Amino acid sequence: MFLLNRHPDHRHPLTEEDAATLGLAGADEAERFLAARDNHAETPLHALPALAGELGIGALHVKDEGKRLGLGSFKALGGAYAVMHLVLEQAGRQLGRAVAVEDLHKPEVKAMAGQMTFACATDGNHGRSVAQGAGLVGARSVIFVHSGVSNERVAAIARFGAEMVRVAGDYDQSVREAARVAAERGWTVVSDTSWPGYESIPGLVMQGYTVIVREALRRLPQPPTHVFLQAGVGGFAAAVAGHLAIMLGEDRPKAIVVEPARAACVYETAKAGRPVTIAHSKPTVMAMLECYEPSLVAWRVLSRIGDAFMTVDEEDAVTVMNRLARPAGNDPAIVSGESGGAGLAGLIRAARDKKMRAALGLDGNSHALIINSEGATDPGRYAELVGMVPEEIAQVRQPA
Ligand SMILES: Cc1ncc(COP(=O)(O)O)c(C=O)c1O
Repeated sequence: MFLLNRHPDHRHPLTEEDAATLGLAGADEAERFLAARDNHAETPLHALPALAGELGIGALHVKDEGKRLGLGSFKALGGAYAVMHLVLEQAGRQLGRAVAVEDLHKPEVKAMAGQMTFACATDGNHGRSVAQGAGLVGARSVIFVHSGVSNERVAAIARFGAEMVRVAGDYDQSVREAARVAAERGWTVVSDTSWPGYESIPGLVMQGYTVIVREALRRLPQPPTHVFLQAGVGGFAAAVAGHLAIMLGEDRPKAIVVEPARAACVYETAKAGRPVTIAHSKPTVMAMLECYEPSLVAWRVLSRIGDAFMTVDEEDAVTVMNRLARPAGNDPAIVSGESGGAGLAGLIRAARDKKMRAALGLDGNSHALIINSEGATDPGRYAELVGMVPEEIAQVRQPA
């Protein structure tokens, strides 16, 4: 499925609040917080000339978020950042003075953080980030997971000291349950999706993601002409496309939102022209993208700067994982988890389809940017689908 954006708001500027969330000052702040973290290192940006040649485009760059903060996905940037931010805001209120990120380890701030509980629903990666953030500041975290989240993913979150709650049902039901229990107990919900009346914390989470764009723009030989972004609730796509639009203005790349055909809530929202909840279908291998309701803030952004919406199939995701693990020519090998390469799957599909190629203006002058949004966050599943364990990939061809 493929759809160009026909919404009346398309190409309109972002609302003032969204521009503030995704703008320069917010990205500066997110980078400052990141710099204060022990295991911070910029993630690599790889050129894939062989694949670009095969697709008939000028250049293809992949930013590899599998290497982010030891958590295996870009989500490391959002939840933990929001938790740290919220602790500092609370400490500032209680102490009656501004508190900086460097003060997080001070006993008076730690004592306040110790009184706070952060809750969220997750299908894996976001919960890991919230749990890590809470662990860093000395707060408590309670993470809600739905029945489809693998035991391996649950164990990876619990390792950060989080208390885990299993919820019968799907991701959206776990979101509602986390919000219900948190409201009852006075906990703070740090969600990566937003709904009417709950926007500012998901906005902080998205602000954390803008760091990806920051780092990419510093390294790219020229700004991208196209960016293909995978979506679950749409927060990642909106943050990346939004910050690119703010930084590059009229020269911004075309932003194409890519989802699994089995869970295309942003696509259906774009088609309907308003947020819609879609019916459940079979589970998708792109487990982190299995969402049935878009984030309100994300849709507000994407209705303005999302240029096209498309879906990919199950086998597209698996093919991309294998292609990145066993590259052609001099392209580097990249470990890409089930949901990590969906954007690239979208580019491959669009570049090989005459109509989509023409509609998006993909040609030999195009410079595509892709974000591998996760590494092997479920190593067992990765090995099953690729036939190699992640450690073996490093020996295929070390990225330059
Ligand atoms: C690896 C990965 N990629 C992409 C996404 C999509 O992000 P969003 O739900 O903000 O659209 C997720 C969400 O969990 C994810 O874990």
